[in-house]
Amino acid sequence: MTELTIRPITGASELPLFNSFPYVLNDEIATDLEAGRRRLSWLWVALRGDRVVARAGWWTAPGDEKPQLMDIFDIADDVEDGVRLLAAALPVMAPGNTTPPESLRFLPPDWRDRPETRLLVDNHMAALEKTGAKLFVERLRLEWRPGTPIPEPSGRLTFRPVGGADELIDLMTLVVEGSLDAHSRDELTRMSARESAVEQYHDELERYTSPHDWWRIATLPDGEPVGFVIPARNSYNPIIAYLGVVPAHRGKGYIDEILAAGTRLLAGQDVPRIRAATDVGNVPMAKAFARGGYVTFERQIDMVWPAVV
Ligand SMILES: CC(C)(COP(=O)(O)OP(=O)(O)OC[C@H]1O[C@@H](n2cnc3c(N)ncnc32)[C@H](O)[C@@H]1OP(=O)(O)O)[C@@H](O)C(=O)NCCC(=O)NCCS
Repeated sequence: MTELTIRPITGASELPLFNSFPYVLNDEIATDLEAGRRRLSWLWVALRGDRVVARAGWWTAPGDEKPQLMDIFDIADDVEDGVRLLAAALPVMAPGNTTPPESLRFLPPDWRDRPETRLLVDNHMAALEKTGAKLFVERLRLEWRPGTPIPEPSGRLTFRPVGGADELIDLMTLVVEGSLDAHSRDELTRMSARESAVEQYHDELERYTSPHDWWRIATLPDGEPVGFVIPARNSYNPIIAYLGVVPAHRGKGYIDEILAAGTRLLAGQDVPRIRAATDVGNVPMAKAFARGGYVTFERQIDMVWPAVV
């Protein structure tokens, strides 16, 4: 068998080579490179002769120096080709004994019913597991499309813009308690609810360049806050970035109105779609998205390497 050559691609002229695997992210790679969300040195291929037998790609938020996600990883036939690619690339992408960035893979919603996709997932997960990664969570990728009815407000809640970072962080601190979201629960094993809220606020919410006066706090008629919704735009789509109901007001269906307020705000700007995501295991949230007219257009498998301590 021809020897395996493992290397990052050398220039944009090698993008077609990198994209020789079909994948939903292929069309975004060129613009991601221009916008600094990807680098050529983060797009790795394993070649046998001219044929790409495995590839891996990393992504980051605009302005960040380090990769945040490994969101591309494909293997043609042999799991070992993928393992060898990761073994060569991971020490470069996560140098100095640091934990590699989380891996995620987008899949059709019915991937378990498609034998060819199951095989792809089995190989993908087997290669990652051989390098020490473990399944972390499966998520639903959700989409609202124009024309889909948005539930009318019942009048139980009033919506107003967020009063400032402190107010939102206080509510986020309450909301993260009892969350079924795997990333939130994992954070709570390492930090306090407040630390987790502060981190999410500064690392994610504050960095959305869409207007922060879109963010809404939901209150009862007497002004008591019940929850919030953060509609935003990321680099690709209008999104519901985050939303929640404080524990004292859960189980009363308020989430439906809070989600509808966020959807209505974005829909009012003639957007072509609104994207959102939640864990398969966050059943109350998944049901609320379904009631709010969001369809599952893909699923996502997140795998992580153990934290280096
Ligand atoms: C998911 C969440 C938004 C649901 O809000 P909600 O307004 O309580 O939603 P619902 O009223 O539809 O209740 C959903 C279910 O929560 C459960 N529930 C009821 N009372 C509850 C309480 N006091 N505490 C926690 N959960 C409760 C019930 O199973 C209920 O479903 P059912 O009444 O149909 O059996 C809320 O739990 C939350 O903020 N979670 C943490 C943040 C989060 O996960 N955000 C989404 C990130 S994608």
